[in-house]
Amino acid sequence: MNLGTCYYPEHWPQEMWAGDAERMVEMGITHVRIAEFAWSRIEPSRNDFNWDWLDNAIETLARAGLQITMCTPTATPPKWLVDETPDMLAYTAEGQPRRFGSRRHYCFSSESYRAESRRITQAVVERYAKHPAVTSWQTDNEYGCHDTVESYSPMALRAFHKWLQNKYKTIDALNAAWGTVFWSQEYSDFSQVDFTDRTVTEANPAHRLDFQRFSSDQVISFNKEQVDIIRAHTKADITHNVMGHFTAFDHYALGADIDITTWDSYPLGFLDQEWWTDAQKLRWMRSGHPDFAAFHHDLYRACSNGRWGVMEQQPGPVNWAPNNPAPRDGMAGLWALEAAAHGAEYCSYFRWRQAPFAQEQNHAGLYDSNNVLAQGGIEAKRAHQVLDSLGPLKPYAAKVALIFDYDAKWMFDIQPQGTGWHYEKLCFEFYTVLRRFGLSVDIISPHHELTGYTLAVAPSLPVIPEDLFNRAKKAGTRLFFGPRSGSKTADYQIPKLSSFKDLKHIRSESLRGGAVVDVDMDEQFYRAKIWRDFVATPRNCRARFDDGFPAYVEAEMFDYVAAWPETKWLRALLRDRLESLDIPTYWLPKDLRIRRSEDKVFAFNYGAKDIDVTRFKKDGEFVHGSGILPPAKFCIWTT
Ligand code: GAL
Repeated sequence: MNLGTCYYPEHWPQEMWAGDAERMVEMGITHVRIAEFAWSRIEPSRNDFNWDWLDNAIETLARAGLQITMCTPTATPPKWLVDETPDMLAYTAEGQPRRFGSRRHYCFSSESYRAESRRITQAVVERYAKHPAVTSWQTDNEYGCHDTVESYSPMALRAFHKWLQNKYKTIDALNAAWGTVFWSQEYSDFSQVDFTDRTVTEANPAHRLDFQRFSSDQVISFNKEQVDIIRAHTKADITHNVMGHFTAFDHYALGADIDITTWDSYPLGFLDQEWWTDAQKLRWMRSGHPDFAAFHHDLYRACSNGRWGVMEQQPGPVNWAPNNPAPRDGMAGLWALEAAAHGAEYCSYFRWRQAPFAQEQNHAGLYDSNNVLAQGGIEAKRAHQVLDSLGPLKPYAAKVALIFDYDAKWMFDIQPQGTGWHYEKLCFEFYTVLRRFGLSVDIISPHHELTGYTLAVAPSLPVIPEDLFNRAKKAGTRLFFGPRSGSKTADYQIPKLSSFKDLKHIRSESLRGGAVVDVDMDEQFYRAKIWRDFVATPRNCRARFDDGFPAYVEAEMFDYVAAWPETKWLRALLRDRLESLDIPTYWLPKDLRIRRSEDKVFAFNYGAKDIDVTRFKKDGEFVHGSGILPPAKFCIWTT
């Protein structure tokens, strides 16, 4: 795995560039990403290009031997362009155009902005495509950051009408699919369809879902326009950097159009900002949740053509979460090694040096704003030394997959039917249990081939793809479904027929926080929370709710758990299933995680105390660290 950093030559006097480049190389950095926000310096006014500074920066970095990831600067359209082309602005849900003054203020559906995006992409690519040091390209920056996938502009509405027409062909088909007869919502023309934001009460869910799918498609097609232009000029790799805990567009679709999927890993920022409990936020405030980075590594590996990496790695405190603690010493290096263990080909720290000005002045870099080496820099260098000593890592062929679906996330966000229901959280709970068994897990889309997987776990899959059971049969994969699976059609309606053989859905209920339903399984008591399905099955059941309804169905090809299981129950269910499939398990301590490459095992300590890992090491020799693993440290042994 190569190490990289994100560098902003335009933020620093030219005299500093050569020294910076030299110190990058000394640190073990081989790749540097530049220019993703530099439009105003590249083109200070229309067609008045100023390439000199960027040419010089590239030459300086290249002379030091660095490889450059050049970016298209479309995340930050400059002021003159906004003034000239006001219809490029995205609109808020309240129908107001966004203001200039930060970033990502453009609308994915604006034809005039699309033309500008193609124009600047073409200009940058023509300038640098043939430069030998420019070995990869990044399109834009973090599509959708700051909630910008959806725009409620007049252009977006027009494009939505076209999208609907293309999808449904006739307005009758749309009316039928959405069920618009309900509340007299029927349309006689596509042009009558509006946004769903200012309806008095809940808007039609299929309408909302289609708007989300449309908005997602707009991101994908915006990106594709840039990709096509870059590809016409160079064979260099193309990437885009996606975000953690972000699901507003279909990342599987984006990944199909690029060569390397990269993501931006901020374990502490996301712990503090997201749904984790206060106890979890305190426990892992200096390390991040032990499954946060891993989950995203595995997810974005799935959203790639096999090549993926980390484009932005947190080096120290960030500036944007509600609270921004410093990582425990060691974590900034551990995170990089964890990416390598999951198969990343690249891990790049954000950013080289802390900026002394503007919005992100409180965000750490590998160097501080006065150019003094920071803790992140010390750790990047150490990470490089370990990576160097390891040599190339071959990927591990996982036996267990977890099915993650963007459409499912959107469907459940639209009608959660209970305040506790949270699709991503459910997926994390399943993923955590699988990883505490010591397993290395692949995440896959519901449409992915199942060959090689002994078990595929879908924490919840509302729309069951028609060919899923055939694929599973061919691959010999056991399927394991969580609650609400098979509960919707792709049109967002309740299916007439069950997708499951030997399982019929009768009704469901959601449970408020604190409410539980008792489960009796093999004379042990467990509990379910948040959601419960009432199902019928002709099969014998090991587990029943206290009112006698089946809680867990083991059918010929699949398992179905008819509720959101508390961890203890989920652990028992999955342990038995894994054992029956001859997949050995441990039960790791809360703060320890293990990940395999083909011939090595990596153990990571996310806690604040030493952990003895020797009982999880069956054979092999340590190649890094030893059996007593201190906080924020990792050890590696051969298998
Ligand atoms: C990312 C973004 C960077 C920077 C960073 C700060 O989301 O891509 O430009 O803002 O966050 O953590």
